[in-house]
Amino acid sequence: MAVPLVKQAHNKVASYLIEGDRVVDATMGNGFDTLFLAGGVGERGKVYSFDLQVAALTKTKERLKEAHLLDRVRLIQDSHDRLSAYLAEDGVRSIRCAMFNLGYLPGGDKTVKTGSESTIKALDSVVAQIEERGIISILAYTGHAGGREEADAVRKWALELPRTAFRVTIEIPEAAKNSPPELILVETV
Ligand SMILES: C[S@@+](CC[C@H](N)C(=O)[O-])C[C@H]1O[C@@H](n2cnc3c(N)ncnc32)[C@H](O)[C@@H]1O
Repeated sequence: MAVPLVKQAHNKVASYLIEGDRVVDATMGNGFDTLFLAGGVGERGKVYSFDLQVAALTKTKERLKEAHLLDRVRLIQDSHDRLSAYLAEDGVRSIRCAMFNLGYLPGGDKTVKTGSESTIKALDSVVAQIEERGIISILAYTGHAGGREEADAVRKWALELPRTAFRVTIEIPEAAKNSPPELILVETV
């Protein structure tokens, strides 16, 4: 059976994580990616996790508390395009990885969704701060209004990065028919 894209993203990111890393979850949502990252950075690491919605912060906080990992995470209610200000506040100059899981909060307010402009701005910020050995993972859904355009904008952004510095791979599940999701991975070379 094909490995779901979320799992593929986790597997790939896990191969980069080292105890003590600073990392970003650009789209906290229900907290699954934040929880995964918190487990991977170890006791000395830190996850900077962003979402616009208080519902996402509440859900994620609960999830982290249950797992006793809340102290490894800074939960930030703000747009991911302002992430560099928060990293600078904590004196963080570089990050091992950033995860983006685009779209709207599953089970929440579908009108609050990521959009090309702020997503690309956030991607520009993370690519400027990525470690020498690092990864950016972007999972883009194309079935909702604006999703296709956003996925295309991210793909264009990734493919315009200098090939001497970054390797880009794009996974699209073969079995998916209409509006398949896309996993775009940007790895340093
Ligand atoms: C598909 S969900 C993320 C799923 C999440 N990674 C998880 O593991 O559950 C997308 C999230 O992005 C959030 N979002 C939308 N625009 C945003 C922005 N500009 N900055 C940060 N988060 C944003 C939405 O509120 C939503 O919760």
